[in-house]
Amino acid sequence: METVLSGIRSTGHLHLGNYFGALRNYIKMQNEYNCFFFIADLHSLTTHPHPDDFHSGVKTILAEYLASGLDPEKSAIFVQSDIPEIPELYVLLNMIAYKGELERTASFKEKIRKQPENVNAGLLTYPVLMAADILIHRANKVPVGKDQEQHLEVARLLARRFNNMYNAEVFPEPQAFNFGSDLVKVPGLDGSGKMGKSEGNGIYLFDDEKTIHKKVMRAVTDAGPKEPHSKMEEPVKNLFTLLKIVSTPETVKQFKDAYNDCTIRYGDLKKQLATDICKHTLPIREKIETIYNDDVYLSQVVKRGTDLARESAQATMKEVRKAVGFRSFLVK
Ligand code: TRP
Repeated sequence: METVLSGIRSTGHLHLGNYFGALRNYIKMQNEYNCFFFIADLHSLTTHPHPDDFHSGVKTILAEYLASGLDPEKSAIFVQSDIPEIPELYVLLNMIAYKGELERTASFKEKIRKQPENVNAGLLTYPVLMAADILIHRANKVPVGKDQEQHLEVARLLARRFNNMYNAEVFPEPQAFNFGSDLVKVPGLDGSGKMGKSEGNGIYLFDDEKTIHKKVMRAVTDAGPKEPHSKMEEPVKNLFTLLKIVSTPETVKQFKDAYNDCTIRYGDLKKQLATDICKHTLPIREKIETIYNDDVYLSQVVKRGTDLARESAQATMKEVRKAVGFRSFLVK
């Protein structure tokens, strides 16, 4: 059975981008693969969260994972910082990751632009830590959104380089995965770019019906098409992209036709969009709070997931250490 691994940073509530880009695939993959899903709390440290909020951030993602349908009986669900083998592998991979190639990743360049006051080494080596997350379980498939494609390329590069350098077939090359179709990019509601936790343009699984309607109704549009079959500007195109993700093909066609013959009313489009988003998210929202408050259950889930993840991680590290040439004086 092939191994699947993915994770999401603990920096706030899960949004539609996380859900449709990644999480929905996790849930479908649980029956067919050996699955590891985790909360990337170490990755979230790049932005220096306050210690008082750090744990609740992890708990939020855990509860939202479970509310969305991750099944702890089928998948190993764990927290990144509970697996010491991950930072161990990260150190070794850092030795074969080059500054120039890390500086070229789009996500790093974007961070330099967006937070010039905090360009720390953890940001530069973010893809190396992510590679460690993946390679520690020798994962084959990684369900992620389109924004993570380049990070997966780094993981493959490091896997290949390690295998070549140490002349050992330790790591398979992990592939991004989305059930036979292109990776999904969920746009934000502010007219440009992707939906992201740090962009403040998100709709969250945690949002109630009223909030979702309010956010969608506020989404950026334009003055409307003036002539038949006009080119669509990005803000409107984004609304259609969202509609395609959450609504039926008939609904999408109805609004496309209305756009093309200039009878479209953006208010109607938004109302439909909000209603259809709610159909996906409200059943999940209903479950979040109960799960979040059930500490006994959450501990059980993480205990089981951590045991499985550590067993897998330790088996990999044994091979890695052997390949690199470690011979301990402490074991005969
Ligand atoms: N970088 C991913 C994100 O921002 C989170 C992540 C960390 C991840 N480690 C991973 C995703 C390993 C897949 C596999 O969403």
